[in-house]
Amino acid sequence: MSKHHYLTAIDIGTDKCTTLIATREPEVGLKVTGVSAISSKGMRKSQIVDLEQVLSTVSESVDGAERMAGQEIESAYVSVSGAHISSLNSKGVVAVAAPNQEITPEDVHRVIEAARAISLSSEREIIHVIPKDFKVDSQEGIKDPVGMTGVRLESEAHIITGMSTTLRNSEKVLRDLGITVDGFVFSGLAAAQVVLSETEKELGVAIIDIGAGTTSLCVYIDGSLTYSDSIPVGARHITQDIALGCRVSIDAAEEIKLQISNESETVLKPIAGESKQDFQKRRKASDMLDITGITGDPHAEPLSKSSIVDAIMTPRIKEIFSLVHEKLEQKNVLADIPAGIVITGGGARTAHLVSIAKRELKLPARIGTPKEISGILSDINNPSYVTSIGLLEYGAQTLPAASSSEFSLPSFSGTPSFETIKKKLLQLLKSILP
Ligand SMILES: Nc1ncnc2c1ncn2[C@@H]1O[C@H](COP(=O)(O)OP(=O)(O)OP(=O)(O)O)[C@@H](O)[C@H]1O
Ligand SMILES: [Mg+2]
Repeated sequence: MSKHHYLTAIDIGTDKCTTLIATREPEVGLKVTGVSAISSKGMRKSQIVDLEQVLSTVSESVDGAERMAGQEIESAYVSVSGAHISSLNSKGVVAVAAPNQEITPEDVHRVIEAARAISLSSEREIIHVIPKDFKVDSQEGIKDPVGMTGVRLESEAHIITGMSTTLRNSEKVLRDLGITVDGFVFSGLAAAQVVLSETEKELGVAIIDIGAGTTSLCVYIDGSLTYSDSIPVGARHITQDIALGCRVSIDAAEEIKLQISNESETVLKPIAGESKQDFQKRRKASDMLDITGITGDPHAEPLSKSSIVDAIMTPRIKEIFSLVHEKLEQKNVLADIPAGIVITGGGARTAHLVSIAKRELKLPARIGTPKEISGILSDINNPSYVTSIGLLEYGAQTLPAASSSEFSLPSFSGTPSFETIKKKLLQLLKSILP
């Protein structure tokens, strides 16, 4: 099958390594044909710390997906995240080349090249250059200047950079497996492809991908990516806190966290005719978690789930969101994201996380689940797979135009008149939102 007929995503996370293979169907779009997620080894805070272990992890994950899809892969889009990620906005200016002053795709390419000409230390490299919008002479906020007339073309681009050594390590792992990297994609940006609506991006929104080792964030203002960053704290820290606080192993703590989180949606209700005391008794009993099976210790005392939530999990979740708050405040974008925050990644499934996020950030918050994608759905239709599905979506948008992930124009949809109406409606919405 030709490279352009299928796409592969490899998300090498701290907790799990996921490989997705999807075919590109003319009517349907992406159709997932192979899925394999296995526990990661050799990763710490989203970065490789043991090449051999990561090689065998990725190899096992790729093998599983290939077996399911019945097809061998040659190349893949690969996630990148971790504390080495950083972002900045840069401006470029060029003179329109054609004598009739009509702007061509070549002018657009030149102005983006001008914007990406930033001084960068030798150990860093550019992962993404994403143009925000364009200015033609004095007219600002232009999304697609091709065909317009002007003398001077300006563009502001959002640039995401990372450590070269980190990227080379990932590349080496894939090369050793005979896989070419189609493109590295920042995990926050990948997640944004599948969970954010155009309206949210226009209004102003932040996506927060809470993985095991890191929390990645991307902020969209006026429809454009404006700020990307990474915080070296993730859901694994909640597990570690439970292990310490309850004096159990990391594996047992993880199991306790998952059980509490999976049950957190169920609300115990009084049964008809049940006395208040009986209901209280039943509630108390249901709050106790028997950990003898989890720990393998027949003498282990049961634990109070609500105490674990209140004394251990909530303070750590609060800390994660206070760090997010700090970052957003530093960048002065808190007032520019009335659509609030959309939380993804496995960590998004932690008990009470969304309500804590709303309280800490004083913003609307929701969990981001992947938008519909055909193929094997039920296994991957949850926040833990948003990054890998996002890598496929990113690939689908990028590959037809060019095989490089570095250069990506924002998508332009709708006729100009529709865009104008939409913009006016959004402005109106913005003016009435707090
Ligand atoms: N149902 C669930 N309830 C609570 N927490 C969960 C659930 N499922 C996964 N998690 C947590 O999510 C984390 C893993 O998330 P994810 O798979 O997004 O991480 P990752 O991509 O491997 O890591 P990173 O992006 O930090 O490198 C783990 O800490 C895990 O405990
Ligand atoms: Mg991740």
